[in-house]
Amino acid sequence: MNMKKILCLVLALMMTVCCLAACGTAKNDELVMATNATFPPYEYMEGDEYKGIDIDLAQAIADKLGKELVIENVEFGTIVAGVETGKYDVGIAGMTITDERKEQVNFSDSYATGVQVVIVKDGGKVKTLDDLAGADIMIGVQQDTTGHIYASDTVENGGYGEDHVTPYLTGADAVEALKSGKVQAVIIDQEPAKEFVKVNEGLSILEAEWAVEDYAIAINKENTELLEAVNKALAEMKADGSMDKIIANYIKAE
Ligand code: ARG
Repeated sequence: MNMKKILCLVLALMMTVCCLAACGTAKNDELVMATNATFPPYEYMEGDEYKGIDIDLAQAIADKLGKELVIENVEFGTIVAGVETGKYDVGIAGMTITDERKEQVNFSDSYATGVQVVIVKDGGKVKTLDDLAGADIMIGVQQDTTGHIYASDTVENGGYGEDHVTPYLTGADAVEALKSGKVQAVIIDQEPAKEFVKVNEGLSILEAEWAVEDYAIAINKENTELLEAVNKALAEMKADGSMDKIIANYIKAE
């Protein structure tokens, strides 16, 4: 073989390897969204169908970008890392913007306000926010959510200490624990809280707001092009009323 032939072979090989590598990651005509569909009305399952505000929002964004939406339903606590490593293009999961998460991913402009509230059992020990600090109180949360992170922080930092918090895989599991008396309160986002209280008798939401936060879409730090495209799509949807329409489909004014 002469030099030219060898060069050609090497080039061909390199191209094959490159192609294989590209095929292994998210395809360019897809928008791969990681979510945790246990969080009505933002994302939940109805039979084997994905439903919710974030699902419709993601579909609208994908349509605008001319991409096919692919939904990956994963544990909430794995979403940020998966977006960071490029496994998913976006994380859309009623996700609160926090400084810690910002170290790993970029966040789009906010598309909703989230409020952390407290669900209690009627006639139970917790009647006010102050009662949460009681020595014999156990608080249930969804693992790796802001409710979990803040509640298990130290008392000096406004939390109740790790010993007073039990994390569950889903908010619904935490609510079951509340019903059976394993925990005396559940700290979770307001709209899911309302949904859980609606379908479970004997539970109420304390009137006081425990924390107010902003929801946004998590995007890989290197993919600034996608960040800009998502922000543009969000701005359009806010301006033309389609965002309000999606939300109104799931959250009925009282
Ligand atoms: N807003 C809270 C957070 O960002 C809870 C989000 C939970 N989302 C879900 N799809 N389970 O930590």
